[in-house]
Amino acid sequence: MSLQPHGGKLVQAYNPEKDTTAIVKEIALDAISLSDLELIGIGGYSPIEGFLTQEDYVSVVERTRLASDVVWSIPITLPVTKEVAATLQVGEEAKLVYDNTVYGVIEIADIYEPDKKKEALLVYGTEDLEHPGVKKLHERPAVYIGGKITLIKRLEQKFPTYSFDPAETRQLFADKGWKTIVGFQTRNPVHRAHEYIQKAALETIDGLFLNPLVGETKSDDVSAAIRMESYEVLLANYYPQNRVQLGVFPAAMRYAGPKEAIFHALVRKNYGCTHFIVGRDHAGVGDYYGTYDAQKIFEQFTADELGIVPLKFEHSFYCTKCEGMATTKTCPHDKSAHVILSGTKVREMLRNGEVPPVTFSRQEVVEVLIRGMRQEVVSQ
Ligand code: ADX
Repeated sequence: MSLQPHGGKLVQAYNPEKDTTAIVKEIALDAISLSDLELIGIGGYSPIEGFLTQEDYVSVVERTRLASDVVWSIPITLPVTKEVAATLQVGEEAKLVYDNTVYGVIEIADIYEPDKKKEALLVYGTEDLEHPGVKKLHERPAVYIGGKITLIKRLEQKFPTYSFDPAETRQLFADKGWKTIVGFQTRNPVHRAHEYIQKAALETIDGLFLNPLVGETKSDDVSAAIRMESYEVLLANYYPQNRVQLGVFPAAMRYAGPKEAIFHALVRKNYGCTHFIVGRDHAGVGDYYGTYDAQKIFEQFTADELGIVPLKFEHSFYCTKCEGMATTKTCPHDKSAHVILSGTKVREMLRNGEVPPVTFSRQEVVEVLIRGMRQEVVSQ
């Protein structure tokens, strides 16, 4: 298994020295495009070098590939209002600004109006405005700007100890002597089911890259700061230190299920992973996707096209009769013996001061979550 970045070359578009004094035009970024700019600049989205032009955008939406045929599943776009678009011209540069600070520059190669209904249907699998990803897609402005970027200023790192660029994780994994590395995406605290599938993977893979997403998530997801604390206590107490690396993933969550699973895997390939865990309803929300849709989509591509191996896991749970974690692949008992709680149910329990069972989540993790919830309530 080679550790080639996606498309063959790790994009490096960070240049803090770039002189922007002669550039007059400005484009305001939102939280999503700000994190996308950073990820393009550091090579997380290799081979993408900028916000998608119309040709690439249409190709990604309709074919799950860039125009070059390289597999890519989530359109990385820079939306602006029609008013702003009217002030811009193809061929000129514009500063990319967030909170009055210049974070980058784009060489404008394209200005176009996307078909958002089509984007919703083909990327998110639904036009339903209740879907958080579709809602966000329509809330963002109507015109997309495409073109190569230069990243000039890095995002403020909220978790500096755990912030690594793809070039750094690649080196880190090599230094540890890991030949196979399994990436784990999560937007949740690590519960027993997560731990079970991570450790099952560690039985055959050299190292685990626990890579929680810390970019924008929907408001009822547990905050990144609380989650990070929960990962720390869990890793310190229950994981072999020399076989796990914790590092944050600064992207925004799209909730696009299968298409996002492909995206999550390709980006982890750029971070140096050879394998990627896809469990039940990966990157899903509500009932929009079938439990294993995010696994099935991998079959549409060849192993070479992906260059990272999906490790597919069944829905896992604690079985009171087996007295351990299991899946329907390994457990013969019926549902009445299985401890299955939804994330929503657990959050509700925590909010009411109830403690989820240790068969669902470890004591140390629950303590962090309860403390975190209280702090959030106090600071609201
Ligand atoms: S995600 O939106 O970031 O995918 P989450 O943090 O819930 O959500 O899941 C992280 C990974 O663990 C995903 O690959 C998901 O499919 C998997 N997963 C979560 N819960 C379970 C479970 N009970 N059984 C099997 N896989 C699971």
